[in-house]
Amino acid sequence: MAVAILLVATAVCSSAIAAGERTQRFAVELAVLAIRSHRLLGAGLTPAQRVRLRAKIGSAIGVLPLLARGYFEEQRHANDRQLLAQLRQLQVMYAHGHLAALATDIDHLSQHYPLDTRGLLPLPATPLALNTGRTLYRNLCMACHAYPDPKSPAPAPDLFTMARTLPPLQLVASLLGGVRGTSSTTLVNPLSNQNIADLAAYLKDGMVLKP
Ligand code: HEC
Repeated sequence: MAVAILLVATAVCSSAIAAGERTQRFAVELAVLAIRSHRLLGAGLTPAQRVRLRAKIGSAIGVLPLLARGYFEEQRHANDRQLLAQLRQLQVMYAHGHLAALATDIDHLSQHYPLDTRGLLPLPATPLALNTGRTLYRNLCMACHAYPDPKSPAPAPDLFTMARTLPPLQLVASLLGGVRGTSSTTLVNPLSNQNIADLAAYLKDGMVLKP
């Protein structure tokens, strides 16, 4: 009886806490890959941007099996052969340049392993959240993102433009991915979900704030 109660209690608790770091990491990577692979299919990129974006997608696809392992360990289920086969299939499609099919498959995977948006969405709209977001932006992001290095082959993108053009879910996924660093690093995201949500809210709507 005690065991049963304990099990129920654990189940209730675990549904109330956010996804683990590695589970979320896998979901973020898939969501960011989905955004990038659609961007690659679209117009408006210079040839050099296209080459870079394509290379980024390739290396992100290469890292996915590693991130999937972290996901399996955290979720405590045995290696899912089907998922690993799907991830290998992505590498094959990429290698053969089947980019539209690749984007579709990444979309499906991303829907299957969605971001845990608790604490992130809906974006907060309170003055406190917007103010916190502005402080975070100014202290942590602005130096690079408001003044990108014109000589860099990979200048920091304008985060306000990004916020205007992406729906909220894709925006928070991009922020979670961007803040963490490159996909080959194992850096843990230093910002809380609350921080990310405040930042996203500020980038989307916070320009109405007085300086
Ligand atoms: C030291 C400079 C620097 C700082 C500080 C910095 N960034 Fe960046 N960030 C960059 C550069 C450079 C890129 C472009 C990297 C690339 O294209 O490979 C980038 C890319 C990004 C991206 C885009 C990732 C993508 O999907 O292409 C996001 C989102 C992002 N940063 C968010 C942030 C946020 C939020 C902060 C503050 C909390 C921040 N960055 C602080 C330099 C910086």
